[in-house]
Amino acid sequence: MNSLDKDSQKAAARVGLVSDTIVIHGGKPLHGRIEVRGAKNLVTKAMVAALLADTPSVLKGVPEISDVHVVSGLLRAHGVEITELEPGVLRLDPSNVKGAHFAEIDAHAGSSRIPILFCGPLLHQLGEAFIPDLGGCRIGDRPIDFHLDALRAFGATVEKKHEGIHLTAPQKLRGALIELPFPSVGATEQVLLTAVRAEGTTELKNAAIEPEIMDLIAILQKMGAIISVEPNRVIVIEGVEKLDGYLHTAIVDRNEAASWAAAALATKGDITVGGARQQELMTFLNVYRKVGGAFDVLEDGIRFWHPGTPLKPVTVETDVHPGFMTDWQQPLIVALTQAEGVSIVHETVYENRFGFTEALNEMGANIVVHKDGIASITRRVPRRKLEQAAVITGPTPLHGAAVRVPDLRGGFSHLIAGLAATGTSTISNVGIISRGYELFIDKMRALGADFELV
Ligand code: EPZ
Repeated sequence: MNSLDKDSQKAAARVGLVSDTIVIHGGKPLHGRIEVRGAKNLVTKAMVAALLADTPSVLKGVPEISDVHVVSGLLRAHGVEITELEPGVLRLDPSNVKGAHFAEIDAHAGSSRIPILFCGPLLHQLGEAFIPDLGGCRIGDRPIDFHLDALRAFGATVEKKHEGIHLTAPQKLRGALIELPFPSVGATEQVLLTAVRAEGTTELKNAAIEPEIMDLIAILQKMGAIISVEPNRVIVIEGVEKLDGYLHTAIVDRNEAASWAAAALATKGDITVGGARQQELMTFLNVYRKVGGAFDVLEDGIRFWHPGTPLKPVTVETDVHPGFMTDWQQPLIVALTQAEGVSIVHETVYENRFGFTEALNEMGANIVVHKDGIASITRRVPRRKLEQAAVITGPTPLHGAAVRVPDLRGGFSHLIAGLAATGTSTISNVGIISRGYELFIDKMRALGADFELV
């Protein structure tokens, strides 16, 4: 069994998903309403933030996804007591934070990228931290150099070992002047979670300003932090001595919402995503409308549907917020295979995020990936070296095939493709999808999908 299979099975087991393969009888529109809860990319970080406090925190809207279980396991290994007060509401008590045993931490090695965010909080609480080998989706190199450089700037010493990274703070961490080479989400969070309790002021330039980061800043402010978000991606943090627990309802998962929206379009269906919010999805909604998808912003969610008229091709470029998010391109590409003409998706955040298109081609799509991007296009985003472009020519009817999930968002795209395709698709490794999509099997069932788990 290769490591991807193992990751998938571990992820599935964490949320009680017994099967790793799903057989879909596609070609039927999805119809109905599903609910979306807290964002994976906020909830997991909010849980880490609880580690910075002296008193318990309560987090609401926590989804039943396997990444939450990974972070819970790591927090428990460090002495944080976690109680589920009711479904989706966690109480996190950091009164007895302690160093974890290597075996307890290592059990979570390779499962998620969140452990790297434990560095600052553990250095503040214990003066040292050990971080296991990181996991997360295999969509490129995903280095952690920005994180480690920032931690060094705060005064931490970093020692890379075979099994992970050992950090110590010989003296109290001090505020620093940090400029990120790229507005990295994780590195911005690293700086926030470390600077809030460092001595003095930290100025972070070229920060990421994703809605999930703003929600994390809101949480830290509730805890007693002083953080100002200034123009031009500058964030200034004035360190404080101690922080208290928080009470917070997580921002809703805009990536999950966008994924179901794409499923409505690709299957010619009509899905209301309860909880979805317009504000964080504006850029996605513009593209959805340009493609020919219809949506209606409701009081408590957004309804997405295929209006029955032909879909139109688009050119999009993924970017950091407020641009078109990289996590949205994979589900959208499935719908673009049904647009009349040539669409181009430029990926500028990750260097290897079109691997999932091979399976779509096996299902009948016409997608050509240009590994070095398309040079003639005038770039809006100041470029790094790692752009790629996918050229999707449609419409191409999709037919069933046997495919294997490569990563979280790519995997959801495979599900959508299977649901849209005529005939039967066998999709294996679906456990990976449970890392970030709550109850996706139940939701597919609620929307009338025809499938069985094998
Ligand atoms: C977060 O990843 C999300 N993950 C990703 O979602 C999301 O795609 C990404 O942000 C961009 O929005 C979580 O929040 C857990 P980055 P993160 O640091 O923080 C390079 C999903 O499917 N980089 O903003 O890891 C990096 O290689 C996942 O939900 C360095 O070079 O992303 C990438 O090219 C996938 N050195 C770019 O920056 C570093 O030290 C952006 O990465 C850090 C990052």
